[in-house]
Amino acid sequence: MNQYFLINGQKLLKGEVNISGAKNAALKSIAASILFEDKLKIDNVPFVEDIRRMVEILKNLGAEVNQSENNLEIKINQNLQTGLNEELSKRIRASIVLAGPILARFGKVEFPYPGGCVIGKRPIDMFLEGWAALDAEISETKSKFTVTASNGLTGADFTFRNISVTGTETMMLTAVLANGVTVIKNAAPEPEIPALAAFLNECGAKIEGAGTSVIKITGTNGKLLKSNGKKITTIPDRIEAGSFLIIGAVLGNPIKIKNCDPNHLDVVIKTLESAGVKIEKNKDSLIVWRAGVLKSVGIKTREYPGFPTDLQAPFLAIMTQAEGDSLIFETVFEGRLNYTEELIRMGARITPCDTHRVIVHGPSELHARDIESSDIRAGLAFIVAAMISKGESKVRNIYQIDRGYENIEKKLNALGADIKRVSE
Ligand code: EPU
Repeated sequence: MNQYFLINGQKLLKGEVNISGAKNAALKSIAASILFEDKLKIDNVPFVEDIRRMVEILKNLGAEVNQSENNLEIKINQNLQTGLNEELSKRIRASIVLAGPILARFGKVEFPYPGGCVIGKRPIDMFLEGWAALDAEISETKSKFTVTASNGLTGADFTFRNISVTGTETMMLTAVLANGVTVIKNAAPEPEIPALAAFLNECGAKIEGAGTSVIKITGTNGKLLKSNGKKITTIPDRIEAGSFLIIGAVLGNPIKIKNCDPNHLDVVIKTLESAGVKIEKNKDSLIVWRAGVLKSVGIKTREYPGFPTDLQAPFLAIMTQAEGDSLIFETVFEGRLNYTEELIRMGARITPCDTHRVIVHGPSELHARDIESSDIRAGLAFIVAAMISKGESKVRNIYQIDRGYENIEKKLNALGADIKRVSE
């Protein structure tokens, strides 16, 4: 059943919103469950489509998974299958993260070529290099990869050519059970990584330096981790919190963003402040007031703590309302500015420079249109643009938005937006 959002724009938003757990943290906790001898409990899990897909893949392999509200309990048995289902895995690129712990625990894993992705090529070459460095053998046919570690995995030094978030997480999860010491250099420092490492350390892993560019893992030599009933609590979604900050910058009357970690958003807050937005920062909440006059500011997306690529699209959407020109420089993914064509159809004035850069000329009046979401974050940007526009917009292909945002229209409507989910 196809669904779209019918959005009646130009409503100011006022009130409080609760931030869900981070999709990109919970996905990796689900993968980490494979390293545990006992049942792993994960709470504050956002029930978004990508989490559902990851759970389906694990169940398909034979894992026992219980789900209630925002909690998951996962028990991995010794007879878990080691071949990831092709159709399911292709729907979510993060399924590749499961391959590391399966290889580490069972000595073998098979997985299909990762599915196509609209935000760029997204190869897995560095994952393969990482496993090879730990002494795994890799073979490849037209449809799948097989990675084996017949003699177990051996710790090694491994340097990432480029910083990769899931690459770092996968390597970390693979090395936890290996023999000897693994040192990951040029590791990604995103906050989801030290959060996962800290929990794994409570359960028998030995990981040092997570959150910095060098991570040292002393392998357990095959000994599985044990949670002893402890729960891993998913950290708040900094991208969801940042999305509400960005929305608040143009529509906040004001909006209080609760249950977030403001320290994870320093650069986003600084950027919005220099655009003239007033933000109050508290321990675990933020309040944002819409700017009287929004000023143009350029951004360059970067690894954490830089401006996150996952907030580039919504930020660009609000720069259409700013006085002046803003250069938006997307450095992480080469296809992540394609959605700007849809904003141009809505009346935005945007000059493409190359695949990585555009200039937004503001302010311009946006007009309601029928638009198609191409990925999670572009989809959110279209919701933002539709909420700014006069009239009724249709945002289609909202499966993409549901992949990453939990109850997004309910949260926005509770603040005063007018968004209907319509089934066709
Ligand atoms: N890359 C390679 N080879 C590899 C792996 C990555 O060349 O083997 C390249 C990518 O093509 C990209 C760059 O390295 O140009 C960095 O990508 P990275 O690997 O860091 O991205 P990712 O791990 O696939 C995660 C998030 C993304 C988020 C990026 C950057 C998950 C499940 N996904 O992706 O989240 O944009 O890090 O922060 O954690 C989203 O939630 O909408 C999303 C896309």
